[in-house]
Amino acid sequence: MTPSADAHAGHVSIDNYAGYAGLPPLAGLETMHAACTTGMTVSESVRRLKRLHWSLRRLHRIFVSRITSMPIYELKMAFSLHSHYCVEHVGEFAARVREMRQPPHGLDTSPDASVDLFFDEILCAPAVEALLLGLYEQAVPALVRALEHLMADTNKLFDHPTWRICRLTLVEVQDIREYGQQAVRCLVSEQKRAELKGWLDTLSRLLAAAGDLDGTREPSGERIDRQFSSVPYKYDPVPVRDERFKDPYNMGVNAEAMLFNTGIKPLPKTIMLYFKRMREIDVPEMMASIIAENDDKPWEYDRDMTRQLWDEARHAMMGEIGFVHLGIDWSSIPFNFTWSLGLNTKLSTKERHAVLYTIEQGLMPKTTGKEYEWEVALATADSLTSMIQDYDWADEVLHARIGRKWIVPEIGSQAEAMAFGDAAWSKILVDWKKWKDDGLTEHRNWWPEVYRAACRHWGIEPDPQLVQYNLSYENTRADLKEIAG
Ligand SMILES: [Fe+2]
Ligand SMILES: [Fe+2]
Ligand SMILES: [Fe+2]
Repeated sequence: MTPSADAHAGHVSIDNYAGYAGLPPLAGLETMHAACTTGMTVSESVRRLKRLHWSLRRLHRIFVSRITSMPIYELKMAFSLHSHYCVEHVGEFAARVREMRQPPHGLDTSPDASVDLFFDEILCAPAVEALLLGLYEQAVPALVRALEHLMADTNKLFDHPTWRICRLTLVEVQDIREYGQQAVRCLVSEQKRAELKGWLDTLSRLLAAAGDLDGTREPSGERIDRQFSSVPYKYDPVPVRDERFKDPYNMGVNAEAMLFNTGIKPLPKTIMLYFKRMREIDVPEMMASIIAENDDKPWEYDRDMTRQLWDEARHAMMGEIGFVHLGIDWSSIPFNFTWSLGLNTKLSTKERHAVLYTIEQGLMPKTTGKEYEWEVALATADSLTSMIQDYDWADEVLHARIGRKWIVPEIGSQAEAMAFGDAAWSKILVDWKKWKDDGLTEHRNWWPEVYRAACRHWGIEPDPQLVQYNLSYENTRADLKEIAG
């Protein structure tokens, strides 16, 4: 460039470059200095995106796989949320890779053997404490680190779609980390942490061997032996609950029979609505089994099913909210796990999903379904109960659609899917008397005491006739169909 041409062009500096009338340039994304000096190649961006994609996938499956056998109710619920967060973002990372590169994308293969071994070890963690430390002190912080690094290193303008998905993902992953830190503080003693020190060091060394989760450090190259995962992971389908959940085989009070009895006033039915909501703990316990035992489905399947799993967990917590609002200690009520236990241990994944679909599709009719429950709630004139049933119903609309999308085509027509689910459900409902004979439960009628406690809260006298309510699930299942002996 000649000196005169240079003078003509004037002089701009990347350090104090500004837009028209002082407007921020570059749509306000970053300074001109950062835009000129930050960034990486598309190959490097894709490489990191693939590692993040894989990590979110692995984390999703760990959270899901450990819901059923997780005894602590709060963690069951948190794992339901955290699995939902992880799987929602998996698709965004895969989509971004597909935007930038032609196939094959290699999204179904592990980016690094040490990364996989790291997640295998956490998946196989034998105790709650090890699982919590592995997840929330190792895996999730490594994920936060990888997201932050990618955001800092990439050019916000050139690679804006990548920067944006990292930023939005980070918000939820930080929430996961924060909950996890609290869980560790509440549940992991210093002694337990000391006992697990060797294994925790192994996890750190596995990350070092991989050059960190995102592969941005020099890999240590160390060869590390499997510990907890030396025996391959096997999903445990038996639901476990903590000590607040007593008498898990109890099927002594038929909630639906009272709810749909139009001769009974709405207010006492509040208890049955809350009971039915909180009993929905068994749905994440069951749905986790379908997702965990179906590992060849597309990402959209995992996302839809996990979203529903999280909704069902929310319904359980709505019931919990209801009982606390009513001043009732819910641990005095037996929330049976017979449904998730029966489905998970006696039926195929296809049968389990069909049973769920049959039940949910059965909730759509006006007179025996979700709309009716909502009307009962409105009639109690309690705004919380109404809100619980309003959203419970709304979610069910989505769930019926998820069933129509994924399980109906696997079986045939809607009618065939319903019949298939109906028959499968009947298979697990024949043990009522056997559980009693085996001494697993007395099927105690818990209704009178809970009803009396609620009446005290409402400041009313119990209806003497209603105190006598004594109808179990011995001969009638939850959709009020007779159980064939
Ligand atoms: Fe549900
Ligand atoms: Fe529900
Ligand atoms: Fe549902």
